[in-house]
Amino acid sequence: MVVLGIESTAHTASVGIVDERAEVLGLASDMYRPPRGGIHPREAANHHVDLLPGLVEQALERARVRTNEVDAVAFAQGPGLGPCLRAGATVARVLSLAWNRPLVPVNHCVAHVEIARVLSGLDDPLLLYASGGNTQVIAYGRGRYRVLGETLDIGVGNFLDKLWIGLGGTFPGGPALEAEAKAGTELYSLPYSVHGMDVAFSGMLTATLALHAKGTPRPDLAYSVETTAYAMLTEITERALAHRGRNSVVLGGGVACNERLRGMVRAMVEGRGGTMFAPPRSLCVDNGAMIAWTGHLAHRAGVSVGVPDSAVLPRQRTDLVTTPWRAG
Ligand code: ATP
Ligand code: FE2
Repeated sequence: MVVLGIESTAHTASVGIVDERAEVLGLASDMYRPPRGGIHPREAANHHVDLLPGLVEQALERARVRTNEVDAVAFAQGPGLGPCLRAGATVARVLSLAWNRPLVPVNHCVAHVEIARVLSGLDDPLLLYASGGNTQVIAYGRGRYRVLGETLDIGVGNFLDKLWIGLGGTFPGGPALEAEAKAGTELYSLPYSVHGMDVAFSGMLTATLALHAKGTPRPDLAYSVETTAYAMLTEITERALAHRGRNSVVLGGGVACNERLRGMVRAMVEGRGGTMFAPPRSLCVDNGAMIAWTGHLAHRAGVSVGVPDSAVLPRQRTDLVTTPWRAG
């Protein structure tokens, strides 16, 4: 079975094609990079509308799959920016109608989790999902993914992006801060905001920008921010492991590309005798393959929608969607 998946929730337009073994047959992506400041939803959506048709062709070519060999078309229904979501959903509806194939809606967060889970080979791991808009510690329980802990304000990636723009850089901030932090030597004390299994980042954002205004070297700020923010994420992940009596952790989301975060979580998990897995970077960031794979799981469990019922859901939460493929 071959599924084509379309991702367009925020900055990235991407089309992925996978088979029933989660083999990524073809992937074509393009990220919208605003010249300055953050993402304007309308501008990002225009980017997706312009690029998605070409990305569909590229993904099919790379996969060496003909259109009549595609068994279902999946799309990210939410959460995300309304105009961006609608761009991807429109292309998915057109393909589903033109090819006469089922249309399968997918939750973007669950897709980050499912691609990481299948690649890990772990059956029921705890998940640390750290991306731009979201930061959640997740475990499966009774028919859906449960959020054990999460950010109380902004996602860790949005925090890194806002901070980097405040320090004079451009979007995306995460990878740039990672490079900058390598030259940092001094650890500055920053607000460490852990509340049970939840975290918050806005205090650290304000404090870091204040240190910047006083002339603190940027590499030291980057180093201090990474150390503090990733220690917070490692702590809530460990607390969730202890509560759930689990010992394996899978990372997902764009911030899971980060070597420091990977290293800190790995050290914690292995210290407890468990296993840690993070997918390759191309499958941590937003990508169509994770939508296609989750679409495959959903389709196999009987999920599909007609065009009239395929409205996008910009605020759809991880723990509000059912996951019938995990029921058994
Ligand atoms: P979601 O909708 O899942 O919240 P998203 O749309 O923000 O996700 P992702 O591609 O999952 O998109 O994540 C993008 C985020 O990942 C950005 O905030 C970016 O700065 C961050 N990021 C990417 N690479 C790194 C890295 N090496 N270190 C830290 N952060 C990174
Ligand atoms: Fe994402």
